[in-house]
Amino acid sequence: MNPGIEFPVEGIGGGDVRLRLLAEADLQTVIDLVQDPDIPRWTRVPSPYGRAEAEEWFAHQASAREEGALLNLMVVDADDRILGSCGIVDIDWAEGRCELGYWLGREARGRGVMTSAIRQLSQWVFESLPVDRISITAEPGNSASRAVAERAGFTFEGVLRSYIVNKGVRRDAASYSLIRGELPS
Ligand SMILES: CC(C)(COP(=O)(O)OP(=O)(O)OC[C@H]1O[C@@H](n2cnc3c(N)ncnc32)[C@H](O)[C@@H]1OP(=O)(O)O)[C@@H](O)C(=O)NCCC(=O)NCCS
Repeated sequence: MNPGIEFPVEGIGGGDVRLRLLAEADLQTVIDLVQDPDIPRWTRVPSPYGRAEAEEWFAHQASAREEGALLNLMVVDADDRILGSCGIVDIDWAEGRCELGYWLGREARGRGVMTSAIRQLSQWVFESLPVDRISITAEPGNSASRAVAERAGFTFEGVLRSYIVNKGVRRDAASYSLIRGELPS
């Protein structure tokens, strides 16, 4: 059986970029932010995205975390305003590796929020989980996401052909990884 994932209830980080668990009260803001078409285009977030989709996503989180399947977090500012989301979208306990996913609301882009969030999450993963390799996969044309991976210290490994199925379409994926010990200070 997989170990569960325990994330601090008070969250991690500080100042302008904090990561914390999802709360019921976040639901409507998540629905509003996810209406930006770039989010379903580049991620597995469904489209259209309404109350039913959000409720299903929220309802699944606690049990998935307890089963060690995934960890989704809110990225918030100093006033607890939701900027976006990031998390462990896939974890392989036997092989000691996991993959991260992320999105930001349109307003929060262009100022380094996600680079900071991914650095913080990667640091927490290496400190808290038996994981030695963290990966990010982004479609080759998703330059904003690829730049986040690079700025956060991940190494580009190549393009995995026909790797992702997103909304029924097979797509290539640029593969990035960060190995324990490589996190930039
Ligand atoms: C991917 C996504 C999160 C990237 O957002 P972003 O705002 O470009 O990324 P960051 O928060 O790291 O900000 C980087 C920008 O802030 C700037 N910046 C300012 N201060 C910075 C700092 N201290 N550190 C890093 N970047 C900084 C950078 O120059 C960069 O701007 P530029 O792209 O114009 O050069 C966003 O485009 C998104 O949500 N896209 C849709 C969903 C998606 O594609 N998810 C990923 C699927 S694989």
